[in-house]
Amino acid sequence: MTKKKFYITTPIYYVNASPHIGHSYTTIAADTLSRYKREALGEGNVWFLTGTDEHGQKIQRAAEEAKLSPKAFVDRVVVQFKGLWKTLNISYNDFIRTTEERHIKTVQRFLDILYKNGDIYEDKYEGWYCTPCETFWPPSQITEAVCPDCKRTLEKISETNYFFKLSKYQDWLIGYIEKNGLFIEPQIRRNEVLSFLKLNKLIDLCISRPQERLSWGIPLPFSPGHVTYVWFDALINYISAVGEFDEKNRFNSAWWEPEVEVIHLIGKDILRQHAIYWPIMLQAAGIRQPDTVFAHGWWMIDQDKMSKSRGNVVNPIDMVSKFGLDVYRYFLLSDVQFGYDGNFSEEAIIKRFNGDLANDLGNLVYRTLTMAEKYFQGNVPGKDQLDEQGKRIEDKIKALPSEITVSFNAKACFNFSLGLEKIWDLVNMANKYVEETKPWNLAKENKETELKSFIRLMVDVIRAVAKHISPFMPQTSELIMAQLGTDKIKKDKPLFPRIEIDKPR
Ligand code: MSP
Repeated sequence: MTKKKFYITTPIYYVNASPHIGHSYTTIAADTLSRYKREALGEGNVWFLTGTDEHGQKIQRAAEEAKLSPKAFVDRVVVQFKGLWKTLNISYNDFIRTTEERHIKTVQRFLDILYKNGDIYEDKYEGWYCTPCETFWPPSQITEAVCPDCKRTLEKISETNYFFKLSKYQDWLIGYIEKNGLFIEPQIRRNEVLSFLKLNKLIDLCISRPQERLSWGIPLPFSPGHVTYVWFDALINYISAVGEFDEKNRFNSAWWEPEVEVIHLIGKDILRQHAIYWPIMLQAAGIRQPDTVFAHGWWMIDQDKMSKSRGNVVNPIDMVSKFGLDVYRYFLLSDVQFGYDGNFSEEAIIKRFNGDLANDLGNLVYRTLTMAEKYFQGNVPGKDQLDEQGKRIEDKIKALPSEITVSFNAKACFNFSLGLEKIWDLVNMANKYVEETKPWNLAKENKETELKSFIRLMVDVIRAVAKHISPFMPQTSELIMAQLGTDKIKKDKPLFPRIEIDKPR
């Protein structure tokens, strides 16, 4: 069944540091998807949620370092995230912060329901703990006292905590993933999760931290001396932002009804939490599952991870001020197929800029509108007769709406780069057509009918391109549309003046 309503989410980002290109990637992808669905289905049928993850050790520590209270600290960093989303033209419908009352209330209610159902129990925990990752490691998964994820030294701890019965749901989850082919995407990630589940026995999840060790969190309703583990708290944002539990413990939300396609876009680093913890939490609370958890790849810098300690963190604002907003959006969505890792570099952006944007799209728009003004004073003529290639271009315009759907559906793995390639096929066909037709000769030879039809077709191409790039590059789309006008062409300056490699702007 194809659904007609969409609830699209990004991860909620930690506010312990400023946002970087990795954060902007998921958010730009979600924005592009939401814009397309709104255009196709109407504003009221799409809900796009993003937000911030504000509790936990990392934040508490960052606040201490900044000599601020945790709340004052998070309030400050949230402003940076919201500012960035404004700069990046992100059309979210709602922004959830985990320190908001609506979220805290839902998390506590959720915990209560699971506790009363017997899926949360108290136990003594003794073992290894990675404080920066906030993760307990069973002896079976470590070889020495080092965190398998971040490689930092583990601490030996012993304390009373609360545990969530993940293990009870292991067989159910395997069955669910096997039955629902689009639940985890791309397939490589689905296979990873399935083989992990089949080869390992799930260990119950420790969902509390004693107040003495961590105070910055949501108190457990049944044990106020403990706060909720930050991941258990964070995942619930996807429902706390859109609904509430009623007195019968049913979760009610227009955006979580069966007829809504719920899509969580995440990075591959947080797959385990979204593909194992979250479905089991929902199942235990009697709530339906999302339709798709899609894990995209990572942007690397010179094949290396981006991190504060390596000093190679790229700020999206710098990229936007250097190259322009839509160039940045276009680069992220076109340079790597969604789901794969990519290498981020300014050289790669400049290459895309000078090629796809300046030479191809920018040039097509500029030369066409120049001709329309020169030969027809900006009045778009009618179309009388097209040659074979002209007809092929016309067919391509008609085919585009269905060709670009690969970018916007889960089955095709939200293949943004392929959708863009389809649009650029048209751009390239049209540029080639200009070279072959040599309209300047048609003008010289007074071949009025051919020239009219040619210009008309080229304007149609540009209009189609502007329409279809709009979810990816909303500003550029508007700029082109404005030049096309409603009744008369009004050419503006070139959209993407080439960047000289020797002297980057
Ligand atoms: N707070 C958790 C998520 C909770 S969701 C219920 C978290 N936050 S985070 O600030 O660390 O951001 C994680 C997300 O940022 C990743 O899932 C991914 O979407 C994105 N990225 C962070 N670094 C990245 C790259 N270098 N490349 C691409 N995206 C990456 O985890």
